[in-house]
Amino acid sequence: MSQTLLITGGAGFIGSHTCLVLLEAGYRLVVLDNFANSSVEALRRVAELAGLGPDDPRLQVVAGDVRSAEDLDRAFRQAPTPIEAVVHFAGLKAVGESVAEPLIYWDVNVVGSQRLLAAMRAHGCRTVVFSSSATLYGLPEQVPIPETAPVQPINPYGHTKAAVEQLLRDVATSEPGWRVACLRYFNPVGAHPSGRIGEDPNGIPNNLFPFLTQVAVGRRNQLQVFGDDWPTPDGTGVRDYIHVMDLAEGHQAALETLLGAEPQQLTLNLGSGTGHSVLDVIEAFAQACGRPIPYSVVARRPGDAARTVADPSLATTRLGWRTRRSLTEICRDGWAWQSANPSGYTR
Ligand code: WQD
Repeated sequence: MSQTLLITGGAGFIGSHTCLVLLEAGYRLVVLDNFANSSVEALRRVAELAGLGPDDPRLQVVAGDVRSAEDLDRAFRQAPTPIEAVVHFAGLKAVGESVAEPLIYWDVNVVGSQRLLAAMRAHGCRTVVFSSSATLYGLPEQVPIPETAPVQPINPYGHTKAAVEQLLRDVATSEPGWRVACLRYFNPVGAHPSGRIGEDPNGIPNNLFPFLTQVAVGRRNQLQVFGDDWPTPDGTGVRDYIHVMDLAEGHQAALETLLGAEPQQLTLNLGSGTGHSVLDVIEAFAQACGRPIPYSVVARRPGDAARTVADPSLATTRLGWRTRRSLTEICRDGWAWQSANPSGYTR
Protein backbone atom coordinates (compact mmCIF):
# COMPACT_ATOMS: atom_id res chain seq x y z
CA MET A 1 0.00 0.00 0.00
CA SER A 2 1.49 3.38 -0.93
CA GLN A 3 2.14 5.82 1.91
CA THR A 4 0.03 8.94 2.46
CA LEU A 5 1.66 12.34 3.01
CA LEU A 6 0.30 15.73 4.06
CA ILE A 7 1.70 18.58 1.95
CA THR A 8 0.98 22.02 3.41
CA GLY A 9 1.21 24.80 0.82
CA GLY A 10 1.28 22.15 -1.90
CA ALA A 11 -0.28 24.47 -4.51
CA GLY A 12 2.62 26.93 -4.32
CA PHE A 13 5.70 27.17 -6.55
CA ILE A 14 7.96 24.65 -4.81
CA GLY A 15 5.02 22.76 -3.32
CA SER A 16 3.41 22.00 -6.68
CA HIS A 17 6.66 20.75 -8.22
CA THR A 18 7.31 18.58 -5.15
CA CYS A 19 3.75 17.18 -5.28
CA LEU A 20 4.38 16.09 -8.87
CA VAL A 21 7.64 14.32 -7.97
CA LEU A 22 5.99 12.60 -4.98
CA LEU A 23 2.95 11.46 -6.99
CA GLU A 24 5.25 10.04 -9.66
CA ALA A 25 7.13 8.23 -6.87
CA GLY A 26 3.84 6.54 -5.88
CA TYR A 27 2.82 8.46 -2.74
CA ARG A 28 -0.78 9.46 -1.97
CA LEU A 29 -1.05 13.15 -1.11
CA VAL A 30 -3.38 15.31 0.94
CA VAL A 31 -2.67 18.97 0.13
CA LEU A 32 -3.70 21.67 2.60
CA ASP A 33 -3.56 25.14 1.05
CA ASN A 34 -5.44 28.42 1.67
CA PHE A 35 -4.61 29.63 -1.87
CA ALA A 36 -3.52 33.04 -0.52
CA ASN A 37 -0.44 32.96 -2.76
CA SER A 38 -1.21 30.02 -5.05
CA SER A 39 -3.81 28.64 -7.42
CA VAL A 40 -5.86 25.44 -7.38
CA GLU A 41 -5.17 25.34 -11.13
CA ALA A 42 -1.57 24.42 -10.29
CA LEU A 43 -2.81 21.26 -8.55
CA ARG A 44 -5.15 20.44 -11.42
CA ARG A 45 -2.16 20.55 -13.76
CA VAL A 46 -0.02 18.52 -11.33
CA ALA A 47 -2.68 15.80 -11.45
CA GLU A 48 -2.73 16.00 -15.26
CA LEU A 49 1.07 15.71 -15.48
CA ALA A 50 1.04 12.78 -13.04
CA GLY A 51 -1.56 11.01 -15.20
CA LEU A 52 -4.29 11.22 -12.54
CA GLY A 53 -7.97 11.59 -13.42
CA PRO A 54 -9.88 14.59 -12.01
CA ASP A 55 -11.12 12.78 -8.87
CA ASP A 56 -8.27 10.36 -8.35
CA PRO A 57 -8.00 9.66 -4.57
CA ARG A 58 -4.19 9.81 -4.77
CA LEU A 59 -4.38 13.63 -4.72
CA GLN A 60 -6.84 15.11 -2.23
CA VAL A 61 -7.09 18.89 -1.82
CA VAL A 62 -8.21 20.50 1.45
CA ALA A 63 -8.83 24.24 1.23
CA GLY A 64 -7.73 25.48 4.62
CA ASP A 65 -5.26 27.39 6.74
CA VAL A 66 -2.29 25.88 8.53
CA ARG A 67 -3.10 28.19 11.49
CA SER A 68 -6.50 26.53 11.93
CA ALA A 69 -6.52 23.51 14.24
CA GLU A 70 -9.91 22.60 12.71
CA ASP A 71 -8.61 22.70 9.12
CA LEU A 72 -5.55 20.69 10.11
CA ASP A 73 -7.69 18.08 11.85
CA ARG A 74 -9.91 17.85 8.77
CA ALA A 75 -6.86 17.22 6.58
CA PHE A 76 -5.62 14.42 8.83
CA ARG A 77 -9.08 12.86 9.04
CA GLN A 78 -9.63 13.08 5.28
CA ALA A 79 -6.46 11.09 4.51
CA PRO A 80 -7.25 7.73 2.81
CA THR A 81 -4.70 6.04 5.09
CA PRO A 82 -2.92 7.48 8.16
CA ILE A 83 -0.50 10.28 7.24
CA GLU A 84 3.07 8.95 7.51
CA ALA A 85 4.85 12.28 7.12
CA VAL A 86 4.33 15.97 6.44
CA VAL A 87 6.15 18.21 3.97
CA HIS A 88 5.57 21.74 5.28
CA PHE A 89 5.70 24.50 2.64
CA ALA A 90 2.82 26.72 3.82
CA GLY A 91 4.13 30.15 4.70
CA LEU A 92 4.84 33.66 3.51
CA LYS A 93 8.20 34.29 1.85
CA ALA A 94 8.69 37.86 0.63
CA VAL A 95 11.56 39.55 2.46
CA GLY A 96 10.43 43.12 1.79
CA GLU A 97 6.83 42.35 2.78
CA SER A 98 8.04 40.75 6.01
CA VAL A 99 9.74 44.00 7.00
CA ALA A 100 6.45 45.87 6.58
CA GLU A 101 4.21 43.14 8.08
CA PRO A 102 6.14 41.22 10.77
CA LEU A 103 2.97 40.38 12.73
CA ILE A 104 1.48 38.55 9.74
CA TYR A 105 4.78 36.76 9.01
CA TRP A 106 5.17 35.56 12.60
CA ASP A 107 1.52 34.48 12.64
CA VAL A 108 1.52 32.47 9.40
CA ASN A 109 5.08 31.12 9.53
CA VAL A 110 5.56 30.49 13.25
CA VAL A 111 2.07 30.12 14.75
CA GLY A 112 1.10 28.09 11.69
CA SER A 113 4.04 25.74 12.22
CA GLN A 114 3.21 25.40 15.92
CA ARG A 115 -0.41 24.45 15.10
CA LEU A 116 0.80 21.96 12.49
CA LEU A 117 3.17 20.24 14.93
CA ALA A 118 0.41 20.04 17.56
CA ALA A 119 -1.94 18.45 15.02
CA MET A 120 0.78 16.01 13.89
CA ARG A 121 1.36 14.94 17.48
CA ALA A 122 -2.39 14.53 18.07
CA HIS A 123 -2.59 12.25 15.04
CA GLY A 124 0.53 10.24 15.89
CA CYS A 125 2.61 11.62 13.00
CA ARG A 126 6.16 12.65 13.92
CA THR A 127 8.01 12.91 10.59
CA VAL A 128 8.33 16.33 8.96
CA VAL A 129 10.33 17.95 6.15
CA PHE A 130 10.40 21.73 6.67
CA SER A 131 10.82 24.39 3.99
CA SER A 132 13.55 26.53 5.54
CA SER A 133 15.69 29.14 3.78
CA ALA A 134 19.26 30.36 3.34
CA THR A 135 17.90 33.76 4.32
CA LEU A 136 18.51 32.78 7.93
CA TYR A 137 22.28 33.09 7.29
CA GLY A 138 21.85 36.87 6.84
CA LEU A 139 25.05 38.46 5.50
CA PRO A 140 27.35 35.41 5.35
CA GLU A 141 30.89 35.65 6.78
CA GLN A 142 32.12 32.75 4.64
CA VAL A 143 31.12 31.62 1.15
CA PRO A 144 30.39 28.84 0.23
CA ILE A 145 28.12 28.69 3.27
CA PRO A 146 28.11 25.45 5.37
CA GLU A 147 25.24 24.49 7.70
CA THR A 148 27.54 25.36 10.62
CA ALA A 149 27.61 29.02 9.58
CA PRO A 150 26.02 31.40 12.10
CA VAL A 151 22.24 31.69 11.96
CA GLN A 152 21.92 35.48 11.91
CA PRO A 153 18.85 36.58 9.98
CA ILE A 154 18.52 40.29 9.09
CA ASN A 155 14.81 40.44 8.25
CA PRO A 156 11.59 39.18 9.83
CA TYR A 157 11.15 36.49 7.18
CA GLY A 158 14.55 35.04 8.03
CA HIS A 159 13.80 35.33 11.76
CA THR A 160 10.61 33.29 11.31
CA LYS A 161 12.50 30.51 9.51
CA ALA A 162 15.12 30.40 12.26
CA ALA A 163 12.35 30.35 14.88
CA VAL A 164 10.56 27.40 13.27
CA GLU A 165 13.84 25.48 13.05
CA GLN A 166 14.29 26.06 16.80
CA LEU A 167 10.69 25.00 17.48
CA LEU A 168 11.33 21.78 15.57
CA ARG A 169 14.50 21.12 17.60
CA ASP A 170 12.64 21.75 20.86
CA VAL A 171 9.78 19.40 19.90
CA ALA A 172 12.15 16.69 18.63
CA THR A 173 14.11 16.71 21.89
CA SER A 174 10.99 16.84 24.07
CA GLU A 175 9.87 13.29 23.27
CA PRO A 176 11.13 10.28 21.29
CA GLY A 177 10.07 9.42 17.77
CA TRP A 178 10.47 12.69 15.86
CA ARG A 179 12.21 12.62 12.47
CA VAL A 180 12.89 16.15 11.21
CA ALA A 181 14.61 17.58 8.12
CA CYS A 182 15.08 21.36 7.80
CA LEU A 183 15.94 22.15 4.18
CA ARG A 184 17.63 25.54 3.70
CA TYR A 185 16.89 26.56 0.11
CA PHE A 186 19.14 28.97 -1.72
CA ASN A 187 17.49 30.56 -4.78
CA PRO A 188 14.71 28.37 -6.24
CA VAL A 189 14.07 29.18 -9.92
CA GLY A 190 12.91 27.64 -13.19
CA ALA A 191 9.90 25.40 -13.84
CA HIS A 192 8.86 21.89 -14.85
CA PRO A 193 10.10 21.31 -18.44
CA SER A 194 6.53 20.74 -19.66
CA GLY A 195 5.82 24.45 -19.19
CA ARG A 196 2.54 23.53 -17.47
CA ILE A 197 3.53 24.51 -13.91
CA GLY A 198 5.88 27.22 -12.71
CA GLU A 199 6.38 30.28 -10.55
CA ASP A 200 3.41 32.67 -10.46
CA PRO A 201 4.03 35.33 -7.79
CA ASN A 202 1.29 37.69 -6.66
CA GLY A 203 1.72 41.26 -7.92
CA ILE A 204 5.13 42.73 -8.82
CA PRO A 205 7.80 40.02 -8.37
CA ASN A 206 10.33 40.67 -5.60
CA ASN A 207 12.79 38.16 -7.00
CA LEU A 208 15.09 38.38 -10.01
CA PHE A 209 14.00 35.35 -12.00
CA PRO A 210 10.21 35.86 -12.16
CA PHE A 211 10.77 39.58 -12.85
CA LEU A 212 13.11 38.63 -15.69
CA THR A 213 10.65 36.18 -17.23
CA GLN A 214 7.86 38.77 -17.02
CA VAL A 215 10.05 41.34 -18.83
CA ALA A 216 10.80 38.77 -21.53
CA VAL A 217 7.11 38.01 -22.06
CA GLY A 218 6.19 41.70 -22.13
CA ARG A 219 4.41 42.01 -18.77
CA ARG A 220 7.13 44.34 -17.38
CA ASN A 221 9.03 46.99 -19.30
CA GLN A 222 12.51 46.73 -17.91
CA LEU A 223 14.53 44.90 -15.28
CA GLN A 224 16.27 46.98 -12.63
CA VAL A 225 19.67 45.61 -11.66
CA PHE A 226 20.28 46.40 -7.98
CA GLY A 227 23.84 47.66 -8.14
CA ASP A 228 26.86 46.87 -10.31
CA ASP A 229 29.42 48.04 -7.73
CA TRP A 230 29.49 44.85 -5.62
CA PRO A 231 32.85 43.12 -4.93
CA THR A 232 32.08 40.43 -7.53
CA PRO A 233 33.61 39.63 -10.96
CA ASP A 234 31.16 41.78 -12.94
CA GLY A 235 29.98 43.97 -10.05
CA THR A 236 26.47 42.47 -9.81
CA GLY A 237 25.12 40.24 -7.04
CA VAL A 238 26.03 36.55 -7.07
CA ARG A 239 23.55 33.87 -5.96
CA ASP A 240 23.17 30.10 -5.94
CA TYR A 241 20.24 29.40 -8.29
CA ILE A 242 18.69 25.94 -7.91
CA HIS A 243 16.29 24.43 -10.46
CA VAL A 244 12.92 23.83 -8.78
CA MET A 245 12.93 20.23 -10.06
CA ASP A 246 16.29 19.62 -8.34
CA LEU A 247 14.75 21.11 -5.21
CA ALA A 248 11.65 18.90 -5.49
CA GLU A 249 13.85 15.82 -5.85
CA GLY A 250 15.82 16.98 -2.80
CA HIS A 251 12.58 16.91 -0.79
CA GLN A 252 11.85 13.36 -1.91
CA ALA A 253 15.39 12.31 -0.94
CA ALA A 254 15.06 13.94 2.50
CA LEU A 255 11.62 12.38 3.08
CA GLU A 256 12.78 8.91 2.14
CA THR A 257 15.92 9.23 4.27
CA LEU A 258 13.71 10.07 7.27
CA LEU A 259 11.11 7.39 6.55
CA GLY A 260 13.79 4.73 6.24
CA ALA A 261 15.69 5.58 9.40
CA GLU A 262 15.61 5.99 13.17
CA PRO A 263 14.42 9.26 14.70
CA GLN A 264 16.86 12.02 13.77
CA GLN A 265 17.18 15.69 12.96
CA LEU A 266 18.73 16.83 9.66
CA THR A 267 19.57 20.43 8.72
CA LEU A 268 20.73 20.66 5.11
CA ASN A 269 21.56 23.33 2.51
CA LEU A 270 19.87 22.72 -0.83
CA GLY A 271 21.87 24.58 -3.46
CA SER A 272 24.11 23.92 -6.45
CA GLY A 273 27.35 25.18 -4.88
CA THR A 274 27.83 27.39 -7.96
CA GLY A 275 27.31 31.15 -8.02
CA HIS A 276 25.95 33.16 -10.94
CA SER A 277 25.75 36.96 -11.17
CA VAL A 278 22.70 38.95 -12.17
CA LEU A 279 24.33 39.67 -15.54
CA ASP A 280 25.11 35.95 -16.00
CA VAL A 281 21.40 35.17 -15.50
CA ILE A 282 20.28 37.97 -17.83
CA GLU A 283 22.64 36.69 -20.56
CA ALA A 284 21.60 33.05 -20.09
CA PHE A 285 17.93 33.99 -20.17
CA ALA A 286 18.33 36.16 -23.30
CA GLN A 287 19.88 33.10 -25.00
CA ALA A 288 16.98 30.91 -23.84
CA CYS A 289 14.19 33.24 -24.99
CA GLY A 290 15.98 34.50 -28.11
CA ARG A 291 15.49 38.19 -27.35
CA PRO A 292 17.45 40.90 -25.50
CA ILE A 293 16.36 41.73 -21.96
CA PRO A 294 16.11 45.50 -21.36
CA TYR A 295 17.60 46.52 -18.01
CA SER A 296 18.97 49.50 -16.17
CA VAL A 297 21.41 49.57 -13.27
CA VAL A 298 20.05 51.26 -10.15
CA ALA A 299 21.14 51.56 -6.51
CA ARG A 300 21.79 48.52 -4.36
CA ARG A 301 18.75 47.03 -2.56
CA PRO A 302 18.97 47.43 1.25
CA GLY A 303 19.75 44.14 2.98
CA ASP A 304 21.34 42.48 -0.04
CA ALA A 305 24.62 40.57 0.23
CA ALA A 306 27.26 40.56 -2.50
CA ARG A 307 27.45 36.75 -2.70
CA THR A 308 25.48 33.87 -1.22
CA VAL A 309 26.44 30.40 -2.45
CA ALA A 310 25.75 27.08 -0.72
CA ASP A 311 28.18 24.43 0.41
CA PRO A 312 25.79 21.55 -0.48
CA SER A 313 28.18 18.72 0.43
CA LEU A 314 26.26 17.59 3.52
CA ALA A 315 23.06 17.00 1.50
CA THR A 316 25.10 14.89 -0.90
CA THR A 317 26.60 12.89 1.96
CA ARG A 318 23.38 12.42 3.95
CA LEU A 319 20.83 12.14 1.14
CA GLY A 320 22.87 11.04 -1.86
CA TRP A 321 21.39 14.12 -3.59
CA ARG A 322 22.97 16.89 -5.64
CA THR A 323 21.68 19.34 -8.24
CA ARG A 324 21.70 18.00 -11.79
CA ARG A 325 20.32 20.88 -13.87
CA SER A 326 22.30 23.85 -15.24
CA LEU A 327 21.55 27.56 -15.51
CA THR A 328 20.83 26.93 -19.21
CA GLU A 329 18.16 24.36 -18.27
CA ILE A 330 16.76 26.71 -15.61
CA CYS A 331 16.32 29.44 -18.24
CA ARG A 332 14.97 27.06 -20.89
CA ASP A 333 12.36 25.67 -18.52
CA GLY A 334 11.50 29.04 -16.95
CA TRP A 335 10.89 30.44 -20.42
CA ALA A 336 8.79 27.39 -21.44
CA TRP A 337 6.49 28.13 -18.47
CA GLN A 338 6.30 31.93 -18.84
CA SER A 339 5.91 31.97 -22.63
CA ALA A 340 3.09 29.41 -22.45
CA ASN A 341 1.46 31.18 -19.48
CA PRO A 342 2.12 34.94 -19.92
CA SER A 343 -0.32 35.74 -17.09
CA GLY A 344 0.54 32.76 -14.93
CA TYR A 345 -2.38 30.64 -13.74
CA THR A 346 -4.70 33.70 -14.01
CA ARG A 347 -6.31 33.05 -10.57
C1 WQD B 1 18.76 37.75 -6.46
C2 WQD B 1 19.77 38.75 -7.01
C3 WQD B 1 19.41 40.97 -6.21
C4 WQD B 1 15.54 41.48 -8.20
C5 WQD B 1 15.41 35.91 -1.87
C6 WQD B 1 15.04 35.65 -0.46
C7 WQD B 1 15.32 34.23 -0.10
C8 WQD B 1 14.70 33.28 -1.09
C9 WQD B 1 15.09 33.65 -2.52
C10 WQD B 1 12.72 32.40 -0.03
C11 WQD B 1 20.27 39.74 -5.97
C12 WQD B 1 19.19 40.90 -7.72
C13 WQD B 1 16.73 40.97 -7.71
C14 WQD B 1 15.55 42.52 -9.16
C15 WQD B 1 17.95 42.49 -9.12
N1 WQD B 1 13.29 33.23 -0.95
N2 WQD B 1 17.92 41.48 -8.17
N3 WQD B 1 16.77 42.99 -9.58
O1 WQD B 1 17.39 38.22 -2.41
O2 WQD B 1 18.96 36.34 -3.13
O3 WQD B 1 16.80 35.79 -2.02
O4 WQD B 1 14.73 35.01 -2.70
O5 WQD B 1 13.25 31.61 0.69
O6 WQD B 1 14.79 34.02 1.16
O7 WQD B 1 15.85 36.46 0.35
O8 WQD B 1 16.78 36.65 -4.32
O9 WQD B 1 15.89 37.00 -6.56
O10 WQD B 1 15.46 38.79 -4.81
O11 WQD B 1 17.75 38.50 -5.75
O12 WQD B 1 19.04 42.96 -9.52
O13 WQD B 1 14.48 43.02 -9.63
O14 WQD B 1 19.15 39.52 -8.03
O15 WQD B 1 20.10 42.17 -5.86
O16 WQD B 1 21.63 40.03 -6.25
P1 WQD B 1 17.58 36.84 -2.94
P2 WQD B 1 16.38 37.76 -5.39
